[in-house]
Amino acid sequence: MTLPLSTAATARSTPADATEPWTAPAGLLCLRPVRPEDKAAMATFLADLSPRSRQRRFLAAKHRFTERELRGLTVVDQDRHVAWVAVDLADGGERIVAEARFVRLAGRPGSAEVGVAVADSLQGRGLGRMLMATLAREARRGGVTELHGYVDSGNRPMLRRLEELGARMAVDHPGVMRARVPLGGSPCSV
Ligand SMILES: CC(C)(COP(=O)(O)OP(=O)(O)OC[C@H]1O[C@@H](n2cnc3c(N)ncnc32)[C@H](O)[C@@H]1OP(=O)(O)O)[C@@H](O)C(=O)NCCC(=O)NCCS
Repeated sequence: MTLPLSTAATARSTPADATEPWTAPAGLLCLRPVRPEDKAAMATFLADLSPRSRQRRFLAAKHRFTERELRGLTVVDQDRHVAWVAVDLADGGERIVAEARFVRLAGRPGSAEVGVAVADSLQGRGLGRMLMATLAREARRGGVTELHGYVDSGNRPMLRRLEELGARMAVDHPGVMRARVPLGGSPCSV
């Protein structure tokens, strides 16, 4: 995905303390909106992703993230830029194991671009699907009518997640697909 890495924080439409416990095969995880204090945990999460997952997430070979980029990923207004994380609460800590976000397109607040990443060790267990459903719900709730995603054409897991949401696919440029997900229905429908 090509999401910008920096955004300003102002209003909130989703309470920052909203949480959703979710029992994953790996234990109890909590899905909640990202918070500014997640910056260090976000840095660790991104650093621990495999090079392939980082490449697929950012459509670029990202080896390190600047303070400004990390702030952009964690200090969000939950309106223009909506971002959730899955945290593993084991041992009393809050280890980020996945992140998912959408950012409204400039001048087109009803359209937003999505980005998501799940820790390599937890991929293929339903977490990405759950996060995409959460994003779709939050997007509908915020009046977004269309989600967009740019996906490496070899990234079957992400293409499947988008197809599940009803995406229409087109080749954006060689090696990259553009997915467009029209969001109809109620805030609870996936
Ligand atoms: C793409 C990505 C986000 C998908 O997340 P994920 O957690 O691996 O995906 P899921 O586990 O939700 O996918 C569901 C699959 O797991 C299977 N699954 C296994 N256990 C499951 C469970 N308990 N619940 C639901 N699905 C389960 C489903 O059958 C489904 O299989 P399918 O892909 O053959 O349809 C993840 O692979 C990732 O982070 N990749 C690197 C970054 C990236 O590519 N980002 C996308 C571009 S922004």
